[in-house]
Amino acid sequence: MTELPGHPHIAFRGADLFIEDVRLGDLATAHGTPLFVYSKAAMLAALAAYQRGFAGRRATVCYAMKANPSLAVLQLFAQAGCGFDIVSGGELERVMAAGADPAKVIFSGVGKTRAEMRRALQAGIGCFNVESESELEVLSEVASACGVTAPVSIRVNPNVDAKTHPYISTGLKGNKFGVAHEHTLQAYRRAAQLPGLTVVGIDCHIGSQITDGAPYLDAMDRVLELVAAIEAAGIALHHIDFGGGLGIDYNGDRPPAADALWAQLFAKLDARGFGDRHFMVEPGRSLVGNAGVCLTEVLYLKPGEQKNFCIVDAAMNDLPRPAMYEAYHGIVPLSRRAGPSSTYDVVGPICESGDWLGRDRELSALPGDRLAVLSAGAYCMSMASNYNSRGRAAEVLVDGAKAHLIRERETVADQLRGERLLPAT
Ligand code: LLP
Repeated sequence: MTELPGHPHIAFRGADLFIEDVRLGDLATAHGTPLFVYSKAAMLAALAAYQRGFAGRRATVCYAMKANPSLAVLQLFAQAGCGFDIVSGGELERVMAAGADPAKVIFSGVGKTRAEMRRALQAGIGCFNVESESELEVLSEVASACGVTAPVSIRVNPNVDAKTHPYISTGLKGNKFGVAHEHTLQAYRRAAQLPGLTVVGIDCHIGSQITDGAPYLDAMDRVLELVAAIEAAGIALHHIDFGGGLGIDYNGDRPPAADALWAQLFAKLDARGFGDRHFMVEPGRSLVGNAGVCLTEVLYLKPGEQKNFCIVDAAMNDLPRPAMYEAYHGIVPLSRRAGPSSTYDVVGPICESGDWLGRDRELSALPGDRLAVLSAGAYCMSMASNYNSRGRAAEVLVDGAKAHLIRERETVADQLRGERLLPAT
């Protein structure tokens, strides 16, 4: 058995790639391609690293469901005791449908609408992570009109550099997120005065795919300075929500493990006397990213003077991260073959040069072979689109030797539903 580094529960047994005890080639044959396949054990192992880090503490892991919002994935995390970080009314309905405890749901995002606030208040969510002073005013108004008070924390923008891709860095002054560090105390004073709000915590999220612990430690220092100042002003903070953002190994990346990172953070928290608070985290990618693969079939090989292309049936509508962030995803065959290999750009059928999944990859492949795009459990299916009128892929969740279809492949009828032709003239 050859484990793929960084991908627990995905391994070659002989020539064939397995996820847990299921041969991926069998799933591609049974369900067709493109197909997303997830390992339940890998998701629970990733969660266990956080749970180990929080052993003996008061803490809630709120899965940032934007990474992978499929109902069965939400159900798995709800049953494992997780709360959820949501960012829209749609996400709220999904977590409720999956059986989440509303008291463990926190609502993040810079642009919550009044309708979304009302629905979340009716559902009884645990906390609104408020991102601006104007949002505080609106939320207070909406809650008062509903005859309730809204539990709030304010998202601090600590102005630290998470050293990640600019599109997924959120904790710097130039970002649209959070309330500037220097305005936070004043925002808390306002929140404490507003009739429709109850202050419950403080919140911070500095970015995504963070592979270095230092920005977290810096951000924690900045947040703790504020906690001290806010409490000195007579406003109690019951929880500290430290956001998500921990990276995964896409291409030899070495992010700290969640438990090791939290051991360092707790050393700081304990030293400063804050270790007894209720902690929340909002991990997305680190819980699901390396638990999933996307299976795809080679359609054509197209040798060229400058480049060889390996054209596959998955595309940027299924896997948008390479096109959006020039992100790297490993690509391996479902069945290793002996034989000559060449260097290919692995590309999809979409009519854009940006439709690539991997560049300069050494592969031994023939039309009809199947490949696995790795690290596809987070921000792939959740960002998939119907571009080029391509239906979205099916999803399977593997549990030991069992494979459960958790989402059917989208049909043309699904795509056309809700559209109308113009009336006949
Ligand atoms: N909390 C908040 C407030 C967030 O905005 C995010 C992610 C998370 C938690 C979860 O972060 P994670 O643990 O997954 O890094 N589409 C991009 C990633 C966008 C992340 C947006 N916010 C990508 O594919 O890399």
